Amino acid sequence: MARTPLLGSRTLDRQTARTLPPGPKLPTLAQTVLFASHRRTFFPRMRDKYGDVFTIRLVPSSRVCVVLSRPDHIREVFGSPPSVMHAGEGNMVLEPIMGSHSLLLLDDEDHVRMRKQLMPAFSGAALRGYAAMVLELAQAEVAKWPVGKPFKVHQRMRNLTLEIILQVIFGVTDADRLNTLRPLLDKIVSVSPVIMLGGFYPPLLRVRPWKTYLDTQKQVDEILYDEIAARRETFAGRNDVLSRLLAAGNWSDVELRDQLVTLLLAGHETTATALAWAFHELARRPADLEFGQRAADTGSDDELEAIVKEALRLHPVVYQVGRRLTETTDLAGYRLPRGTTIMAAIGLVHRDAEHFPQPQEFRPQRFLSDDPPAPGTWMPFGGGARRCIGAGFSLMEATEILRAAVGAYNFQAPHPEPEPAQAKNVTLVPRHGAEILVTRR
Ligand code: HEM
Repeated sequence: MARTPLLGSRTLDRQTARTLPPGPKLPTLAQTVLFASHRRTFFPRMRDKYGDVFTIRLVPSSRVCVVLSRPDHIREVFGSPPSVMHAGEGNMVLEPIMGSHSLLLLDDEDHVRMRKQLMPAFSGAALRGYAAMVLELAQAEVAKWPVGKPFKVHQRMRNLTLEIILQVIFGVTDADRLNTLRPLLDKIVSVSPVIMLGGFYPPLLRVRPWKTYLDTQKQVDEILYDEIAARRETFAGRNDVLSRLLAAGNWSDVELRDQLVTLLLAGHETTATALAWAFHELARRPADLEFGQRAADTGSDDELEAIVKEALRLHPVVYQVGRRLTETTDLAGYRLPRGTTIMAAIGLVHRDAEHFPQPQEFRPQRFLSDDPPAPGTWMPFGGGARRCIGAGFSLMEATEILRAAVGAYNFQAPHPEPEPAQAKNVTLVPRHGAEILVTRR
């Protein structure tokens, strides 16, 4: 399928430029740096200055990005036909890593078909089937936490979510294979913006450090293809994502490999980060910790989940999601030309007092009250046809991990002040690793 050209400096005529929403006049490079590294302060400032809908320009090609910050405008985007709002095109830079069949890279019929094939492994019944395995891995991890000594919980969460992907998503059980895969996957998930540049400039892929990354990937692929071949014979009755995928769909090996790598990269750092923020908040708030401990003791999943939801509201791991218009479209009161990039600013909506009273406060109870947030205002997983396919999985996963951790420990914060966020690829992570100190209950 032909790609939609980006609307940028080369394709934008003066007349159209005048009708775009207002925005900063800074050079594209400056706007790109502000967006890449400081979006949590850059976006609110732009909204205060230019209003709910504003335009920024980013590399490559000085592309035009229209940022939306009102839930009703964002609902228009999520509710529009996916054929008009492409998401896969914008992810092409990930192709050398995730592969051309990756759900994240596809649009139109290919995306619908692939999503349908993946869905059975993420249904409510499937998720309930994974919960016990996740809890067991979480309990084993928290049992290793150093008692009475501060440690960075973000890194611990990365190790744990990687283990969950290995055992619950890939379904690897053989101890030797787990030992081989662990360090390799750890390298794969440490993908940096420099490595991603290889997606823009393929000749780079032949030299270091890109070649080293791809060599590691080849080693992982060999193991994954082996695992897929073996699992084709043994999936019946097994309870992991790969086995469920094989049971429900008709897959080629390469399609499966691409989805496994996608689930790894989309599901690892995101969930680990959400949990790091949740622990950071609980360690600073004895009353909320007590609330969580009571929920863990009484098996109240809704209350544990409310803690995760509030962490994702206050600290959205993904600050914005993008779409590219494949045709000229009326949106948010503007006529926006083909090729415009639309950004739904999740982070702006989540901190808007109109939708979340006292938005700076961490208050899990807001998700349990008689007056919960209005539909379409809490959107850490994006929305519409591209809503995160792992949303239910990650909520289940985070709930089980919270249960294991707050059930076992009291938490304290060695540094009681709020930790700043730092951009890391597409995620916003706690800058200092979310240090906590635990003592046994
Ligand atoms: C707290 C954890 C997570 C957060 C905050 C998160 C967030 C997101 C967001 C914002 C999107 C884009 C949605 C859009 O464009 O509208 C997305 C897509 C996706 N996520 Fe997640 N995610 C999380 C966990 C996971 C997990 C655990 C998995 C897999 C096991 C996963 C797999 C995916 C995939 C495959 C897509 C692409 C969906 C598509 O294009 O159809 N995510 N996620």
